[in-house]
Amino acid sequence: MPAKPRSLIVGNWKMNGLRSSLVEIAHMARGYDSKLRRACEFIVCPPATLVYFAAKEALGSHIGIGAQDCHIEASGAFTGEVSAEMLADSGATTVIVGHSERRSYSAETDGDVKSKALAALRAGLMPIICVGETNSDREGGHTLAVIKRQLSGSVPGSADSETLVVAYEPIWAIGTGLTPTLADIAEVHRFIHRELNAILGSHGAALRRVLYGGSVKPSNAREILALEHVDGALVGGASLKAEDFLAIARAAPAPH
Ligand code: 13P
Repeated sequence: MPAKPRSLIVGNWKMNGLRSSLVEIAHMARGYDSKLRRACEFIVCPPATLVYFAAKEALGSHIGIGAQDCHIEASGAFTGEVSAEMLADSGATTVIVGHSERRSYSAETDGDVKSKALAALRAGLMPIICVGETNSDREGGHTLAVIKRQLSGSVPGSADSETLVVAYEPIWAIGTGLTPTLADIAEVHRFIHRELNAILGSHGAALRRVLYGGSVKPSNAREILALEHVDGALVGGASLKAEDFLAIARAAPAPH
């Protein structure tokens, strides 16, 4: 098996967390010790209200703080919106874009997601671009066609591939306790790497990371993270508690 890049373990807190939740960040920061640092990179994406506080809490700990969305403009008359520059200014290093909950509840298109990824790169943030099929796509046998269309519409071809991450999150696996078979995850990840090579070129391909998301838990993380072409995880519910999220990070394969 070719060498894998160090796993990237990302927590997406979604619309959860008050300042009292910062104790979990502090706990994660203490748990992310030198052994864990060798195995994985560790990032938590709290809601925008907590990014600044979480970044302060994480200072000096090596855990990264990210956000869950950004606007495409740097500033302006966009009431209620938050720009990538503002997130970077608050201490974020990463931003999730195109999560299926935003694609569905806020009607974000592939074009919107690409613009947001470009805004993130402009601000010096690492975009994590989410793609994934619905249950009916899957049942109709359209998974790879849907992923191909989302990737070609959402991933900026100009991007420096080392600063761009893709997360594969089958929508039917999010928050349901269901996961695809390991063979299905491996097949989709292999396909995504191939498509990214076509979009971004093969330069830097060895460092390119594709994360799996959807009901990742301490109990299934080890087998998922060990799969070839799976370079980390994007974790929702199980990232809210430090103990669970650290257990997932500890399941990352030792680098070789
Ligand atoms: P769960 O881990 O709760 O299934 O959520 C996955 C997700 O949507 C992460 O972005």
